[in-house]
Amino acid sequence: MPDTSESRHPFLEGLSKHRGSPPTVIVVFGASGDLTARKLIPAIYNLGYDNLLPADFYLVEFSRKSIPDDVFRSMAVDSINQFSRRELDGGVWQSIGERAFYQSGGYDDLEAFNQLRKRIEKIEKDLGRPVQSLFYISTPPSVFKPILENLGKSGLASRHLGEKEASKVIVEKPFGRDLESARVLNDVISRVFQEKQVFRIDHYLGKETVQDLLVQRFANSIFEPLWNRRYVECVQITVAEDLGVGSRGGYYEQSGATRDMIQNHTMQLLSLTAMEPPVSLDPESIRDEKVKLLKAIQPLKLGPEDGDVVRAQYGEGLIGGERVPGYLQEEGIDPESNTETYSALRLSINNWRWEGVPFYLRSGKRMGRRVSEIAIQLKCPPGNLFSASEKFDLAANTIAFQIQPDEGSTVLLNAKIPGLETRTQPVKMHFRYSTTFGSNTPEAYERLILDAMIGDSTLFIRGDETEASWNLISPLNDYWDSIGRRGMESYASGSWGPLESERLLWQNRHQWRRP
Ligand code: BG6
Repeated sequence: MPDTSESRHPFLEGLSKHRGSPPTVIVVFGASGDLTARKLIPAIYNLGYDNLLPADFYLVEFSRKSIPDDVFRSMAVDSINQFSRRELDGGVWQSIGERAFYQSGGYDDLEAFNQLRKRIEKIEKDLGRPVQSLFYISTPPSVFKPILENLGKSGLASRHLGEKEASKVIVEKPFGRDLESARVLNDVISRVFQEKQVFRIDHYLGKETVQDLLVQRFANSIFEPLWNRRYVECVQITVAEDLGVGSRGGYYEQSGATRDMIQNHTMQLLSLTAMEPPVSLDPESIRDEKVKLLKAIQPLKLGPEDGDVVRAQYGEGLIGGERVPGYLQEEGIDPESNTETYSALRLSINNWRWEGVPFYLRSGKRMGRRVSEIAIQLKCPPGNLFSASEKFDLAANTIAFQIQPDEGSTVLLNAKIPGLETRTQPVKMHFRYSTTFGSNTPEAYERLILDAMIGDSTLFIRGDETEASWNLISPLNDYWDSIGRRGMESYASGSWGPLESERLLWQNRHQWRRP
């Protein structure tokens, strides 16, 4: 491993448990896709750089295209050069690249899966030891089913390492497109794998700041007394992107902001923020609490005037000083499309902790800037000592967790402006990852691939969890599908969303933050 001070990064020290993973072959289905180049290959490379891959590690890329091994290896080098958080180190790549292979085959071609099994058996024979196989399904969802079925029929899903299952499967999002399809998918998976072999990915859970939420909430006594309906006025969760739909129009048209971001990433942020303390940190205890929370969310009110939801599409506008087209003018987008690029929801959680506290969620593309944050706005103090004069500029106390890009947390307080007169002003107390721990923290996919290799499912979604989330979201998508473009709002690229989304908050005398 290159000897740099980064190897003392606290994240890496905390990962020492990972150094014991058994010999492993990762098989990526959908190898020629965007995610593989942008995220998976760079993540595997960086794990190698940090010496966190098992000593005997193999990579097999499986896809329909026919690509020779050496071409695949040079494509992998390109993707490291382009997307890795660290520069390419020839020695590190060599040790991965010499055990990286490409296999072409149809996802519905059982014979190709039999070949894959033989390849893994050959690796074991040459090595003289059994290896575990981790199947990473990163294809379009339409082929999840044949892949899973062929993993079953070929015997790849039921391989054993001594007493333990030697096969695991990582399933990328989107995990279904509604409750019904998620159920069908869970059913197919459960016919082939046991739940403990299944790792449904939501890459937000691999983000450092998202994991830190558990630490912030449950390792600090300062927050716990405030974390309930007595002190919290409302909670706002924002996942905003400045990027547009780019070249992913085909996928996005089938998805939209609610399926793409709200149903998964934003709901995960919500459940970690609002769930009850788990009895321990083991995966099932945490996931049990998340499911309980999701089940306590009340069905959304769907309707034009006092409904809990707003959707919109971006129009043209300015991003970083450059003029960008509106959604309907983007390549591959139906000019009559009713796919939303912005979605805002107002949720009520019917339990002892949160009854009466609105939770506002929003996510959109082409917004003012890329930022994800969770903001807990507290109630104002009783009495009006400081509220009777315009000399007092006061803000509601707010605890904000910045998930990205400027990772950290902020507490908004009111303070006296120095001077002989008593005047006040809101001020911020900051904690910043970059100043405390240094930058260049590991990417979400590094953590998640590593956890799947050692079988730790804490940061993955359980089957019932995804169904609980779809149970809330599916009626909304059905409703929008049924009304076509009616009620579709629009917002200028580079803005903070449609005016109508303010209505969701005004009705409770709240306002969206400008993060
Ligand atoms: C993906 C969505 O899951 O998350 C994309 O499909 C989105 O549309 C991306 O751009 C955002 O991820 P991140 O980590 O950049 O916030």
